Amino acid sequence: MYDVNKVMTSRASRRGVLKGGAALGIGTLGLGPLGSRLAAAQAEDKLEIFSWWTSPGESKALQALFDAFTAANPGVEVVNSTVAGGGGVNAKAVLQTRLQGGQPPDSWQTHVGRELVDLYVVPGSCEPITDIYESEGWTDVIPADLVEQATWESEKYSIPVGVHRGNGFFYNKSIMDDNGIEVGDTMSVDEFFAAADTLKAAGIPALAFGNSEGFPGAQTFENTLLGVAGPETYSALFRGETPWDDQAAREAAETYAKMLDYVNEDFSALVWSDAIALVIEGKAGFNSMGDWAYGEVLAKDAQDNIGWVSHPGSDGSFVLVVDSFTLPVGAPHPENARNWIITLGSKEAQEAFNPLKGSIPARTDANRDLFSPYHQWSMDSFSNDALVPSAAHSQATSPAFQQAFYDASTAFVTDKDVDTFLALLDDAAAMDAEETS
Ligand code: GAL
Repeated sequence: MYDVNKVMTSRASRRGVLKGGAALGIGTLGLGPLGSRLAAAQAEDKLEIFSWWTSPGESKALQALFDAFTAANPGVEVVNSTVAGGGGVNAKAVLQTRLQGGQPPDSWQTHVGRELVDLYVVPGSCEPITDIYESEGWTDVIPADLVEQATWESEKYSIPVGVHRGNGFFYNKSIMDDNGIEVGDTMSVDEFFAAADTLKAAGIPALAFGNSEGFPGAQTFENTLLGVAGPETYSALFRGETPWDDQAAREAAETYAKMLDYVNEDFSALVWSDAIALVIEGKAGFNSMGDWAYGEVLAKDAQDNIGWVSHPGSDGSFVLVVDSFTLPVGAPHPENARNWIITLGSKEAQEAFNPLKGSIPARTDANRDLFSPYHQWSMDSFSNDALVPSAAHSQATSPAFQQAFYDASTAFVTDKDVDTFLALLDDAAAMDAEETS
């Protein structure tokens, strides 16, 4: 349960700290150099932002958010606290330790949906920001479904800064041309296997894959599930309404196993950004990934040679991976933290960040002309397609399910044991159902 008392206590104690600080400030006036050093320490005007955005595309985009904040809040020192690891595999653990030790940063990155609610809101780590939504008019410009995923028990707890499309399938155009493969606007599963056989015969891995951090295995499976089973079955499976021994789930796992026959051999030593780099550098054909991979394409100025379609069979659906930021209970610099949240929801910040990140703005009033053809394609998909939340990024399912999903898919990419994989997912779903009941 969300603990109102805890929030009230922390608000009260913050007021106490401010009062104490002001008193100390007056008291130091007569202390000479020591006094001014103490006063300087009091006046430390900082903002510590915690995220896992460290790849070239991610860090450039994060810097755009910092620049937008600094433009509105000159004089505040932004402290960039990042913990590398795609999908937050390491950052989320470090953050938990900090939160448990009562040392939150001023704001942290989280996906809306289950990750936000289960990891941070229900344990009482977040302040509601409903009043900021109201004063900034955000419910008029952010789609209600997204706002809903940032809401718990009528209060809003995070501001979505960008919407990633998880089911991207990026490819190297020269490799396709050189091997006589024509990629249209969409790609079916059969079309992929035909292209993959051609590339295999030419000695080129068709599917770039980097699974050392665990999330790409889960992500590529969920994309395959969507492509094979469609959005309704996908959602029913992740909601626990359809059991994982379902025929469509089995067919998806078998298809995924077959796709894994075409990956680069060193996949277990590589991370997600290495995989898209293989495609950019002409060493592999395709990469199934969320469109933060397109952020890498842009950061490396490789857009002329990189095309895209939806992951095979998943055209007409959009896997939601929505990044947002929180306002913590006990933020060390609460005023700056609120101003950070205000910046992130602004049109200017979202127009600066998303063209670099590969995602599209959560706001629907952004100027489309500022965005690349890829982004415009994704915007159209967001408006017209079936929107389904990602389980690999813990929007659809609990963080515990996510971990079980990572573990099961990491084993699967090596052993390709469909029965065990589906049984593990079924166990995870049962555990999830028990937790949420
Ligand atoms: C996702 C996140 C993206 C991107 C990706 C790889 O979880 O939503 O913004 O950072 O991980 O690190």
